[in-house]
Amino acid sequence: MGFSWESHYEDGDWDRGAYVGGDDMADHLDGFLDHAARGERDPVESLASVGCGPAAAEFAVAERRPDVDVHCYDAAPAVVDANRVKADEEGLENVSFDVAALPDTGIDRTFDVVYCMAVLYFVRDATATLRELWRLTAPGGHLVLTYPNRNMQSWAQGLDETDHDKRDAFSLVAAGENLLSYDRIHDVLGAHPRNYWTAVDADPDAEYVQRTGSPAVYLRKPE
Ligand SMILES: C[S@@+](CC[C@H](N)C(=O)[O-])C[C@H]1O[C@@H](n2cnc3c(N)ncnc32)[C@H](O)[C@@H]1O
Repeated sequence: MGFSWESHYEDGDWDRGAYVGGDDMADHLDGFLDHAARGERDPVESLASVGCGPAAAEFAVAERRPDVDVHCYDAAPAVVDANRVKADEEGLENVSFDVAALPDTGIDRTFDVVYCMAVLYFVRDATATLRELWRLTAPGGHLVLTYPNRNMQSWAQGLDETDHDKRDAFSLVAAGENLLSYDRIHDVLGAHPRNYWTAVDADPDAEYVQRTGSPAVYLRKPE
């Protein structure tokens, strides 16, 4: 059987951290909301995280910014449930969690910022996924994502039996079924991807910034 995120979360053997960038990701996301604001009089009011997982950065941003509505989605009900419990325990009223799966989330609204970090590797139809995330992005809003490219394919192909779970989880990437590039994203969405790490002033020497296999980019949707 292949890797199952639901089983992973049900097993309970997971940490509440961001999969890429760790503890730095809360500051980066917080900084990006300033970057995405259209002047002081037009701040970001809504953020969606798709494939939120443990939502470490999202929880932190919801706490720091009570005026921002943070909507988090994941395909795995077990992590959605665990996140709801945590939000209740902490009395956070501006963050919500729901089950939704790419590439057809069924979400019927748009958001000022759509954030999809370390998720596209696991979804087969990359084109449909990009279009869905763009549909969720409000005109004038921003989409942030990481995506698998050919360098990540080489890495995934190098995983051996000792990395059994990882090899299963990244099998679409290894098979080259969902790879993307700057040019391909531009062709599908008609907007230019830009470097997320530069926008949030990340340390250029950080390990996650140096990685070449899974670029982090953002795109602004025209008004
Ligand atoms: C590597 S984790 C990343 C979690 C979080 N975004 C982060 O950066 O820490 C990938 C997440 O994507 C979710 N996921 C996998 N396939 C998905 C899909 N088709 N639609 C939505 N979420 C999905 C998994 O359940 C998992 O929580």
